Amino acid sequence: VPTVPSLCGVPLKYISLITLALQNSLLTIIMHYSRVSIPPSESYSAPTAVLLNELLKGFISLAIAFVRIDRTTSHSSDTVSPSFTSSAFWHPDKVLTRVRRLAREVFSPDCWKLSIPAILYVIQNNLQYVAATNLEAATFQVSYQMKILTTAAFSVLLLRKQLSASQWLALLCLAIGVGIVQIQTTTDEPAKVASSLLFNGTSMNALKGFLAVMAACFTSGLAGVYFEMVLKNSQADLWIRNVQLSFFSLLPALVPIVVSRSSDAGVMQSLFANFGVWAWGTVAIQVFGGLVTALVIKYSDNILKGFATSLSIVISFLASVALFDFQVTFTFILGSVVVLIATWLYNQPGRSPAAARFSFSVK
Ligand code: C5P
Repeated sequence: VPTVPSLCGVPLKYISLITLALQNSLLTIIMHYSRVSIPPSESYSAPTAVLLNELLKGFISLAIAFVRIDRTTSHSSDTVSPSFTSSAFWHPDKVLTRVRRLAREVFSPDCWKLSIPAILYVIQNNLQYVAATNLEAATFQVSYQMKILTTAAFSVLLLRKQLSASQWLALLCLAIGVGIVQIQTTTDEPAKVASSLLFNGTSMNALKGFLAVMAACFTSGLAGVYFEMVLKNSQADLWIRNVQLSFFSLLPALVPIVVSRSSDAGVMQSLFANFGVWAWGTVAIQVFGGLVTALVIKYSDNILKGFATSLSIVISFLASVALFDFQVTFTFILGSVVVLIATWLYNQPGRSPAAARFSFSVK
């Protein structure tokens, strides 16, 4: 019987889901603010942010994989590995052995499988900036929830996941609940929304934003389910898979940078133009989100990940009430209650045979 990994007695599954919901709320607000609050001529390069995101995630995953490599690849004949805080861990011979093992694992014959989600995620991460630049934060966040339905569709198609009738009903409720919250947001601020849809000074283009968000929902569903498929159909460590994902992301992340680079400025100058504290903040939250997403996909699944991000809509709104004195309306409460009921319905044990049948190994 696999042990359930936990932190202070709370299963990692729940910790990672709640953390992801909080991270999503913060990212939506900061990404939108960092793109829209400044004139377009002073905005930072989104492709640079995407590349930095992949580089940082790759390095962090590599460091974690390095520390864990004895545990994940040792044979039973090996002696117990020392903790990385002890000097024995850093003995040059041991370090060299670990580096060799790591290289063997990262460049294993099946590593190319990660190239597909890597390319899809790079496209998605770039599209996300296009959408956040062209839509109001709330509109973006709610329409991005369509990825729940694309994810369910790809889970059924690729993972042969079978959803019970009540789980499909829960997904439908979720989409309706999200729509109700959306109505309340749009009717609450008609002038603001109309200006973002039609004509405004910050050159938002709602159609462009909407198309970007729809395409991002498609790549999110496909990439997430593909990553889950690779992760759960093999024994490789999650952090090795993350390193492979970042490695294969580097080339596609460089493409928009090379294509759009103006030839007159220096490389570093054009890459990091206007890259201030908000840009770095957005990248940092995105790196954190990528790592938490990987944990959620491992310890839970992509469909439950969708529910966590829906809850983030409720969290962001409550944060707005607390911080900016927003009024809670009846429609918002109704939408939130529907989202919460949908989450509860999806997780009913007796009614979700597929969830129980869908097994995966936990290291
Ligand atoms: O919107 P969605 O939940 O699909 O976004 C997933 C995000 O998590 C993407 O930005 C992707 O780059 C990141 N990710 C990651 N590592 C994984 C899986 C996803 O960094 N193993």
